Amino acid sequence: MSRLAVFLLFLLQLQLQHSSVVRAANGDFGFTATLRRADANMGYTEVERLGHAFKRTKARVAALQSLATAPPPTSAVTEARILVRASAGEYLMDLGIGTPPRFFTAILDTAHDLIWTQCASSQYFDPARSATYSPLPCSSPTCGGLGFPSCVKSMCEFDYFYVNSTKHAVLATETFTFGTNTTRVTVPSIAFACVDLTTSLLPGSGMVGFGRGSLSLVRQLGSPRFSYCLAPSRSPPTPSRLYFGEYATLQTTNMSSGGGPVQSTPFLTDPERPSLYFLNMTGISVGGHRLPIDPSVFAMDQDNGFFSGVIIDTVATITHLVRPAYDAVRAAFVSQIKLPLLNVTSPDGMNTCFMWPPPPRKSVTLPQLVFHFDGADMELPFDNYMMVDDKSGGLCLVMGPAGDVTVIGSFQQQNFHMLYDLKNSLLSFVPAPCNLV
Ligand SMILES: *[C@@H]1O[C@H](CO)[C@@H](O)[C@H](O)[C@H]1NC(C)=O
Ligand SMILES: *[C@@H]1O[C@H](CO)[C@@H](O)[C@H](O)[C@H]1NC(C)=O
Ligand SMILES: *[C@@H]1O[C@H](CO)[C@@H](O)[C@H](O)[C@H]1NC(C)=O
Ligand SMILES: *[C@@H]1O[C@H](CO)[C@@H](O)[C@H](O)[C@H]1NC(C)=O
Ligand SMILES: *[C@@H]1O[C@H](CO)[C@@H](O)[C@H](O)[C@H]1NC(C)=O
Repeated sequence: MSRLAVFLLFLLQLQLQHSSVVRAANGDFGFTATLRRADANMGYTEVERLGHAFKRTKARVAALQSLATAPPPTSAVTEARILVRASAGEYLMDLGIGTPPRFFTAILDTAHDLIWTQCASSQYFDPARSATYSPLPCSSPTCGGLGFPSCVKSMCEFDYFYVNSTKHAVLATETFTFGTNTTRVTVPSIAFACVDLTTSLLPGSGMVGFGRGSLSLVRQLGSPRFSYCLAPSRSPPTPSRLYFGEYATLQTTNMSSGGGPVQSTPFLTDPERPSLYFLNMTGISVGGHRLPIDPSVFAMDQDNGFFSGVIIDTVATITHLVRPAYDAVRAAFVSQIKLPLLNVTSPDGMNTCFMWPPPPRKSVTLPQLVFHFDGADMELPFDNYMMVDDKSGGLCLVMGPAGDVTVIGSFQQQNFHMLYDLKNSLLSFVPAPCNLV
């Protein structure tokens, strides 16, 4: 091929790439993607699944809590380093990296910003085989967004800690492909980190940060809104849905078969932990009674090297309430369900379990549970907080106690269509049959 032809091809490629940027700028941009649970094919029963999820959630809550010990303000790299320690899931998203695209699954994480993938072996992304891979110079503003990069030959690099070892990482830009076959979009120049790592411990090739910071996928795509609808785990495993840009609207939900109005509550922001989605939780009702919980237990506080507040998360499965709130919920269930408590020995699992009455079984009235937020009430379906353990015959509350932060987990968000609007700093949700959406 002549030099001119190569040059023309190059121009054509630039234009093609450019057209998707224009689409984004027009607000005409969006895609839908499929989310799968990392444990979907493990063959667990629901009780086993939740047992594992409890352990993972404990680690996740501890990791979120330990963001407090990172020197403020936490950078994208610090957060990603801390959170990867507890990153066994929960939801995986498909994406294509490079030109031509190679498709991987990566962990969706709403609590940090960095997009990164394993780059050490050809099993995952191999920069040498992509026409669009471009390492970022240290002088780029994007590199500044990392916090404290190191410059190697003026390229933007940093150290990533995975399990026991320090791994070399390069910040680069690349063309990403998102969506399903019907909504496929290709977006050039997404900043991501290529980490010199090969591990089979992670359920995906890496992680996709959906946090609120400038390096997150949400912010980089320029149409900063997304929504998801998490299918109930009990039915045969159906994939869940993620909607991006203009596809992220609660109107995709069939209201006549859903039920309930759209509710909205503002996000709160902790300037020292700017990636996290904090909510203003104002109380909890059980069986129609507002519990006597001092609202200050949910308040954001940043003193003495710890922080508090309420975080909505997707990697944590099971909601963990700060101890006084958990104790109040437990006491309300004990007094309203009126069944004997089971003596549960595992402190890390479900520890509010009731004995079903012996046969002949009478019906048990389960109390309704509502999380109150500033301007929004989240009335949880029974399946989002009660489960029957077939083995012990126990009827268990699927929630746990936490130290300083309350974390609203994905199990409690099932069958709600949740919309994150970053521009207006608003979380909206509506009940929805997510296995059908
Ligand atoms: C971490 O290091 C310890 C001690 O060197 C080792 O026993 C352990 O297997 C390592 N863990 C992993 C996951 O590599
Ligand atoms: C999507 O497209 C790929 C390649 O064109 C094809 O192999 C795959 O079957 C398609 N998937 C669906 C769900 O249509
Ligand atoms: C919404 O649900 C109703 C009742 O299930 C159904 O008749 C109608 O066709 C649905 N509409 C859409 C747009 O899916
Ligand atoms: C609960 O179980 C523990 C350990 O098995 C036992 O020591 C304790 O006595 C039990 N408590 C009740 C109330 O049965
Ligand atoms: C949280 O919501 C309550 C009730 O609407 C309001 O009084 C309070 O000011 C809010 N807190 C913050 C930090 O916005």
